[in-house]
Formats: sequence, structure tokens, C-alpha cells
Amino acid sequence: MGLSLSATFTFVTIIFLFLTLIAHSSSSPLPPFACDWSNPSTRSYPFCNPKLPITQRTKDLVSRLTLNEKLAQLVNSAPPIPRLGIPAYEWWSEALHGVGNVGRGIFFNGTISSATSFPQVILTAATFDSHLWYRIAQAIGIEARAIYNGGQAMGMTFWAPNINIFRDPRWGRGQETAGEDPMVTSNYAVSYVRGLQGDSFKGGGTFRGHLQASACCKHFTAYDLDNWKGVNRFHFDAQVSLQDLADTYQPPFHSCVEKGRASGIMCAYNRVNGVPTCADFNLLTNTARKQWGFRGYIASDCGAVGIIHDQQGYAKSPEDAVADVLKAGMDLECGSYLTDHAKSAVLQKKLPISLIDRALHNLFSIRIRLGLFEGNPTKLPFGMIGPNHVCSKDHLYLSLEAARNGIVLLKNTASLLPLPKTSISLAVIGPNANASPLTLLGNYAGPPCKYITILQGFQHYVKNTVFHPGCDGGPKCASAQIDQAVEVAKKVDYVVLVMGLDQSVEREERDRVHLDLPGKQLELINSVAEASKRPIILVLLCGGPVDISSAKYDNKIGSIVWAGYPGELGGIALAQVIFGDHNPGGRLPITWYPKDYIKVPMTDMRMRADPSTDYPGRTYRFYKGPTVYDFGHGLSYTKYSYQFVSVTRDKLHFNQSSTHLMVENSETIRYKLVSELSEETCQSMLVSVTIGVKNNGNIVGRHPILLFMRPRKPRIGSPIKQLVGFESVLLDAGEMSHVGFELSPCEHLSRANEGGLKIIEEGSHLLFVGDEEYPIDIIV
Ligand SMILES: *[C@@H]1O[C@H](CO)[C@@H](O)[C@H](O)[C@H]1NC(C)=O
Ligand SMILES: *[C@@H]1O[C@H](CO)[C@@H](O)[C@H](O)[C@H]1NC(C)=O
Repeated sequence: MGLSLSATFTFVTIIFLFLTLIAHSSSSPLPPFACDWSNPSTRSYPFCNPKLPITQRTKDLVSRLTLNEKLAQLVNSAPPIPRLGIPAYEWWSEALHGVGNVGRGIFFNGTISSATSFPQVILTAATFDSHLWYRIAQAIGIEARAIYNGGQAMGMTFWAPNINIFRDPRWGRGQETAGEDPMVTSNYAVSYVRGLQGDSFKGGGTFRGHLQASACCKHFTAYDLDNWKGVNRFHFDAQVSLQDLADTYQPPFHSCVEKGRASGIMCAYNRVNGVPTCADFNLLTNTARKQWGFRGYIASDCGAVGIIHDQQGYAKSPEDAVADVLKAGMDLECGSYLTDHAKSAVLQKKLPISLIDRALHNLFSIRIRLGLFEGNPTKLPFGMIGPNHVCSKDHLYLSLEAARNGIVLLKNTASLLPLPKTSISLAVIGPNANASPLTLLGNYAGPPCKYITILQGFQHYVKNTVFHPGCDGGPKCASAQIDQAVEVAKKVDYVVLVMGLDQSVEREERDRVHLDLPGKQLELINSVAEASKRPIILVLLCGGPVDISSAKYDNKIGSIVWAGYPGELGGIALAQVIFGDHNPGGRLPITWYPKDYIKVPMTDMRMRADPSTDYPGRTYRFYKGPTVYDFGHGLSYTKYSYQFVSVTRDKLHFNQSSTHLMVENSETIRYKLVSELSEETCQSMLVSVTIGVKNNGNIVGRHPILLFMRPRKPRIGSPIKQLVGFESVLLDAGEMSHVGFELSPCEHLSRANEGGLKIIEEGSHLLFVGDEEYPIDIIV
């Protein structure tokens, strides 16, 4: 067995030759823009003068608008203002894992008819590679700009990323997220926003605040239930403790704003502790704008303003709902409730014009930063991006790279995988083996450049691969052709079962009610495994976890592979892993719970366990019960070993600021409040950790190193363990490498107290990576 990189490249090259690259036409329509230099009547306005500060330009623009013109601009489909030479603008576009067409601002009806579709986010998250996340978002931003330059976009504001925490395994939109860990999700948010907006990976570097495209962190906040047993997101009132809010739900949004410098935030449908998030002044204005320094626009989720009155009854009248959201700090409604009710809110003196002006200021600032008020934008920094950047070879290769780096090898008994490439007979069985594009792409996708099914990927390696769907009607598998599938399986050397879920089982507005494989899937798996000559390979396509304990412990199932929803080239990525042209290195970004976890109501937002009521807690940070597979689990075709090469200090002695005491479960805990420590103290206490990692096998591999910390004596309020750093490294056979981590005690070694304040607790802790540990004592 050996990885042949040249074979990989040859295969990829062959695939690309088959790709229909977009035909370019020089006669594409012009994109919509204001301040046309050839129009002397509008170009002389100060708002058109690129030399003036943006604040001054928006002020000038807003001052020229009539009340009716102003009100019309507060919704996602903003009409043109012809007398000022301002074109219509559509705020709603989507780009979760590639430029999509779920929103209203992007059209694939011109010379550009598709865009690169990257793997669904949950699989990309499994790479634990923030630079890869950045490169994907950068590619999406470039394709978005190319589509705009080609005259096929009415807006450049994208409502991605989705940075809610994947709190409950049943959540239908969990697939859209970076998983259950707040630190991973925070890093994902920063990487995505910087990449899409055109910033550099480390931050800094945008040209005069120009945006390549605008990102929007959603859904602010504690939104992670869609529709479960009659409870839906429009009615749901999430009861969230200040403690969980501070160290689970909010950190991704905080990072998105502070480190990512996102130009957009979207408030959510749900209420948090009784208050609709879009009407929450404390959340939108105090927290995001004042505390975190957010400078951008805040949009509502689509239809989220109307429900504040119509469904939640929080506002007494439609006018009150409109006034509430603008007072809270929302700037833009996705919908048309404001079109219908904002005027009467003004006439009833419920809505001051100053709030409307503030919203318009935030909105036009974004359009100016996007370069849409500088005449023909094809002359600006991003104007050179042409249609040949869409579905480019580089982007397709990146999509393939993300898929195969994310794929997780869950089980590989007796090194069944990789399969031999020569003269074997193979059957690929299951409802996802030859599924339609929607299955491999996941939700919020646009039209892909190319689509390669799992079956096609396998057929490249084994020409006569036999296929049987096994189930009738897709993964729901209400009925199955088990006998036929068994006959197919009996005749071949190797069997790969491609099972799991799809959008008919988990998606937006559809949470699951159990964690089993649907319908007759398990029966099919067991029968095929029983009949096959050798142990079989089970491949799962799904976003949320499924309980496959029986397969985990069944000797007739030799290998289990999780491939998320792997994107347009997912079929190639999976085949490369199965046949050893790629060494798998992905690690689970979520805990795989056993099926009886569903006794926990999905509506219970508490992260921390409560032993007194048998509440088990959520995610690897707080849940101590049995798992099917742990957060971070992932095998490879080689073995890695670790060592702590150096840690700059093993004692953190905080002798500044006062020490506080609190009693938790009749134990007295000494702690410092992070807010009382000076920035210098936090900086002076940095811990630099160098980890040595060695590839002990005989094949190259990419491996994410996960560095955790845990208290020696776990307490209810503190995580059992917490990821404090991660980094993906590429290691040749036998290669050893050093990887450095900088831990800030104020950021990485802290948690929230019950009041929602960040604290550093005294106590003995362990840093650990794999089985290697290093003690760190914190003294306050
Ligand atoms: C593409 O669709 C948009 C929106 O429906 C429409 O305005 C535009 O004219 C269409 N373009 C072409 C070339 O059909
Ligand atoms: C705290 O005290 C220790 C020992 O007295 C000293 O070495 C250290 O510099 C002090 N730390 C700070 C932040 O003042």
C-alpha cells in the first residue's frame, strides 16, 4: 500500500478534462451601479465622490431622500431611485458553501450558469483547517464578484456563514454549521468572513475598507431549533442562561464581529428569554455594536419582523413591531412588513425618522464599501475578476480537497481499507450510492459546475462496479429490495454500502425525532453484511449524527466512513479515500450520541449537565454519557504520535486584581474576573506550547492536531474538557514536525460564571493531545 500522488493528479486531470468550462461572452450585460461617470447630472453629487469619507457620502445621500424613498430602502428588495441614478439593489443572496441561488440577488440565467459547490459546511469543518476554510470563502467571494461583474447579480451581500452551535444532534440545519464547539465555530466564522470579504487570512489588507463581497453572521443568537414535535422556530422562546450564552452561544458572533470584521449580522426568528432577537436592544445595540464594535448592517431573518406581532404577540400592533426592531438596532427587513407598516408607524409617531436615517446610513455604507457608488465598478480593484474565475480548475480542485480532507474514517478493522485497486469485483449498494445532486450538495447550494455521483467515482477504479439502490424511494427507505441486494452482494469480492440521510430527512424546517438510520436501512445493512464474502464497508452521507452502534460492534462490517454531504466532486473524493489515493484525516466536529439521547427535549437549551434531574448536558464539553463516536474521532491509514516539546510555563500565577470566591455544589472556588485583569496581564501570561507530531506509518497524511485542556477535578460549571487550539499538518511517511500554539489564559483558559462573566478558576489543569498530557497550575 502506498499513496501515489501522481496517480491522484492524473485522475483529477482526467476529470477536469470532462468538465464543461463556462463559455465566456464579451457581450455580458453591465452590472448595476450608481454614480455613472458618463451622467453629469448625478456624478457631481458628494455621495458619488470616492475621495470623501464614507460617512460623509452616506449622510449626503440620505439627506436627499424623501420619506417614501427612505422607507422603501429598508427591505431586502430595495427599489431604484432613478432621479439620483441609483439602481435597484437586492440584499438577499446566499453563499453557504458556494454562490447559491436560494436568495433573490443572483441569477444563473446568463453566460454563467453555475458556480463551484463546495462540500456542506459540517464536512469542511471536519478538516479542522482554518486556512482551508479561508481559501474556500475567498473562492466564493471571487466567484460572487465575477457573477456581479458579468451582470448576473443585483447585490453582493451574502447571508452566510451560519455560525450557530450544533447543540442538538436532531437539528435539521446542523449540517450548515461548523459543529458543536464554540472555538471551532469562532475560527470558522473569522476565516469565512475574511475570505469572502477580501481581507487577508491574518486580518488587515482590504483596500480602503472595500469589500469583495459582504458576509453576514447568522442567526443571532441561540437559534438551533427549526421544527421539532410541533415546536417551531417562529414560536420558540429559547431559555438560555447567561452562563451558556457567554461561553457557548455568543463566542462565534463575538469573533465574527471583532476578529472577522463582518459587515453584516442577521437576527433570528426565535426569542431568547422572552425577547425576539430582532427586537432586542441589549443584543443588537449594546452587545454587538457597543461592546464588540460592530460596524455594519443588521438584517432580519426572512419574515422575522412580522412574527413579532402576528405570531409571538410580543408587539401589540404591526407598527409597534416595526418600531421595536428599528429601536433595537435592526437596519433591514428581509420581507415586506416594513413596506406595509413603516409609514403608519411614522405617522403614529412610534418610529422617529432619526432611526430610519441610522438604518439607511448603515445600509448605504455597505453598498458604497462594495464599490457600487463609484461609476462602472469593472474599473475598481475587484473589477478585473471575470467569468473565467467561476468554476475554475483551482476552485474545483479546492472543492475536491475539502471533501477528501474532511471525510472521516470511523472504523477500519483489520485494515480492510484501502481496497486493492486491481482486479477486484465490486458492488455499490444503497439509496445514496447514485443519488441526485441535491443529496451530495446539501442545502443552500447553487447549480454546481459538474456533478459526480458516488457510483461514478467508484466506476473510475472498478469499471464493472455493480450498483443496486437497496431501498425504494431514497434514504427514507420505507421499503427495501433486500433479497435482490443480497444476491448482488454475494457475487462480488467487496461491497460498499452507501447509506445515511438526505434533505428529505434533515433540513431547514425539519428536525429529526430520532437518531436511527431511517426505515429499513439497518435491516438492509445487516442482511448484506451477513451474505457478503468479506466484511463490508459502510459509507454514511449525513449532516447530523446517526446511531450506528450495531455496525460499530459488528465484525461483518469492517469499515465505516462518514462523508457528510461532500459537494459536487464528492464522488471522486470518496473513491480516492476508499482506494487509498487519499489518506483520510478528517475528525468529527460533533459528538455522535446513542439513540436514547432523544429522551432529552430538543427545546432544553442548557449545555451543562444537571445530575439532580438526570439531565445529561450537551456536547463533548459537558456530556459525560456514552457516545457512539466522540467529538474529534477520526482514523487514518497511518499512525501519529505526539509529544509536548515545550510549554513556556506550567504555573500561571495571577496576583493582580482581587480574587473572588463562589460556591458551586458546596465547593468553594477561587477565581479572577477576566474583566478585572488588564490587557497587559493577559498578554504577559501567554503560554506557548510546542507539540511534536510524527507520522509513524509509510504513507503521507494530513492530520489535524487537537489540543485540549481539562481540569483535574471536573466541576459542574466548567467544561469536562475544552479545545484550546487546533492545526492541520501535512506529514510525509516518517516525518516529524513541530506545531506551535499560543494560549491566552484570558481567552482560552477561561469559562463563564453563572452571571455570564468570564472567569479564570484556580486549580490544577492538564493540557492534552491524544494520550499525552502536560500539567498546568492556575493560582489566583
Ligand atoms: C435573469 O433573471 C432575472 C431575474 O428574473 C431577470 O431580471 C433577467 O432579465 C434575466 N436575464 C436573462 C438574460 O434572461
Ligand atoms: C506574581 O507573583 C510572582 C511571584 O511573586 C511574580 O514572579 C510574578 O511576576 C507576579 N505576576 C504579576 C503579573 O505581577
